[in-house]
Amino acid sequence: MNSNAWRSPSNIALIKYWGKFGRQLPRNPSISFTLSQSHTNTKVAWTKLDKQQDAVQVDFLFEGSPNPAFQERIQRFLTSINDEMPFLRDFALHIESENSFPHSSGIASSASAMSALALCLVEKEYQIKGLEIDTKFYQRASHIARLGSGSASRSLFAQAAVWGQHELEGSNNEFAIPYKQLHTNFQDYQDTILIVDKGRKSVSSSAGHALMNEHPYAQQRFERAAKNLTELLSALKEGDEQTFIEIVEEEALGLHALMMACRQSFTLLKPNTLAIIEKLRHYRKATGLPICFTLDAGPNVHILYPSRISKQIRGFIEGNLSNFCQNKYLIYDHMGTGPKKLSEA
Ligand code: DP6
Repeated sequence: MNSNAWRSPSNIALIKYWGKFGRQLPRNPSISFTLSQSHTNTKVAWTKLDKQQDAVQVDFLFEGSPNPAFQERIQRFLTSINDEMPFLRDFALHIESENSFPHSSGIASSASAMSALALCLVEKEYQIKGLEIDTKFYQRASHIARLGSGSASRSLFAQAAVWGQHELEGSNNEFAIPYKQLHTNFQDYQDTILIVDKGRKSVSSSAGHALMNEHPYAQQRFERAAKNLTELLSALKEGDEQTFIEIVEEEALGLHALMMACRQSFTLLKPNTLAIIEKLRHYRKATGLPICFTLDAGPNVHILYPSRISKQIRGFIEGNLSNFCQNKYLIYDHMGTGPKKLSEA
């Protein structure tokens, strides 16, 4: 194998990972739905070197062009995992990566990008060790992806994934695990992403997580997230859409409330974010339909709903919400089946 390539999806957190410690370990457990349309394709060409180098040799093309900022992040990441993967210094790595969504769409790409790269690295490791791809392979990829970006640990599995120590059997801080007990109400869930602002995030996620180190509500937040996860897991299992809506929206607004209610605070919500939320809640009240929203660390709104009401909801979004998006830009995404191995040379 001289080169390998993987496609890996983004994910949308329902219970938010916000706050970390040690080596990329989460201060609270989180759960996400795995997406499908928003993904990264990454290809690594491996050239064996005559002798092991002191530093990993890497060059990187993003959508066909050099990208010094991404290259530097990848170089830092590969250097940081030297204890996990010393074999990387035996090769020169030529990495090419592309996203299915425009880079300037305001959609975070670290989850799909880091998980796609981790899959390429772990597949090479497996080849060197003579191992076959099995369940452990995805655990290992989740672990390596986590070291690159916490939320990336959750992109390795179909439908839904839980990351972080919790009473759920098998859950732990080192890697995410698939959550397979979804009621039919929650299978093939839809996520329409309304792009309110395409600009780059004004606050890096590392700076955001750092806020939780000294945050006045930190302890309450971490306990609340664990409790919310317990309740959400049973709602997902039992098909309880009302509880799902309540918890998901509490988590979305709670994340932004944490950013706002502290020293060094910041506000990432935009007037159009709030306008969309208000319209959505009004529509839900008027129709009784199980539609809700969630937010990342940014102004864009993810609208979640079951596929059985897709037609109606899309009509509502296009008629009433798309005006609040930048250039009416939105992305129809939905729950996906997880990463996919691409061709090999
Ligand atoms: C708000 O995974 O981007 O999207 O570990 O520093 O790379 P790093 O942070 P990142 O944080 C994601 C935060 C979030 C919530 C979530 O996805 O759980």
